[in-house]
Amino acid sequence: MYNTGIMAVECYAPERAVTNDDLAKLVDTSDEWIYSRTGIKSRHVSTGENTSQMCIKVAERLLEKTGVKPEELDLIIVATITPDFATPSTACLVQGAIGADNAAAFDVSAACSGFIYSLSIADKFIKAGEYKKALVIGAETLSKYVDWQDRTTCVLFGDGAGGAIVEARERGGIIADVLHAKGSDGMKLTGCEKKVRNFLSSPEPDRHYFIMDGKAIFNFATKVIPQSINIITQKSGVSLDDVKYIVPHQANYRIIEFAARKLKLPIEKFYINIDRYGNTSAASIAIALGEMSNEGLLQRGDKVILTGFGAGLTWGSMLIEW
Ligand code: COA
Repeated sequence: MYNTGIMAVECYAPERAVTNDDLAKLVDTSDEWIYSRTGIKSRHVSTGENTSQMCIKVAERLLEKTGVKPEELDLIIVATITPDFATPSTACLVQGAIGADNAAAFDVSAACSGFIYSLSIADKFIKAGEYKKALVIGAETLSKYVDWQDRTTCVLFGDGAGGAIVEARERGGIIADVLHAKGSDGMKLTGCEKKVRNFLSSPEPDRHYFIMDGKAIFNFATKVIPQSINIITQKSGVSLDDVKYIVPHQANYRIIEFAARKLKLPIEKFYINIDRYGNTSAASIAIALGEMSNEGLLQRGDKVILTGFGAGLTWGSMLIEW
């Protein structure tokens, strides 16, 4: 049976950066409030690029970096809650654009855990033996669901994409993962509701924008991150001392700080770039990995834990030997 190794990671974000001061012109907020509560300084916001276009940029960068030819890809998975369309899937749009004619393609909706869910799915396809190379992308244009008049949510989110090409390998790569969901708490964070519209019902307005119980999500996240990381260390037998980096979903600096304290780990072990991106949901861990790789932080043999949590509610962690 093969393992699933990471060939390369890459990332992309729209050019336009929106600072906290920019948002203070739209709603009653301040840089001081946003930074002290979340760790966010600015976020990238699309001025026209949709999710598939950002995915295609990431895919092209990955193909160039690895030398993999599009037709060598067996599988394309895009993790997103902000697809261009319900159908075709974002993954199919990417498949068509890059000419990956031999790849199966589909989207995964698991919000901020989406990249880990998708890597886990790709890992199972590869371990089953028939699939050798997969392109896995996390990408979001969350600005589509942001109510720019709602200060409780508009300061949190950003747009961007990141991804990996993974391949069948003899050893290393994805060593252990764990995925969770708690649908009974799903209504604590909703976005882009689609009501039934047919000839019998008069259309009611959809709750299009994000609606969130921030405190409940905060408490949920600080509880499940340490739990999920502890499951991974138990499952793999790898001690946290031997893990070089923990790459968490970037939702709030204080959430990461809480989790670090509970795990008795120095905050420096966590890669954090939320100050420049805000919360990019399924893209956030992939963007972080792309940046880390381009900064030379990830060397072959390094052990890295990814940990994600968010809407659904979903959460999960993964240990990778680079
Ligand atoms: N600027 C200024 N004031 C704001 C504000 C903003 N952007 N957003 C909310 N406030 C106000 C509130 O109205 C409230 O005012 P009040 O006391 O007069 O009612 C006050 O600040 C405190 O609000 P509260 O919601 O208690 O703040 P908080 O410390 O819980 O921080 C979050 C709010 C959203 C930053 C925090 O709960 C959080 O990060 N939760 C997790 C959210 C998340 O990560 N979601 C995505 C998961 S993937």
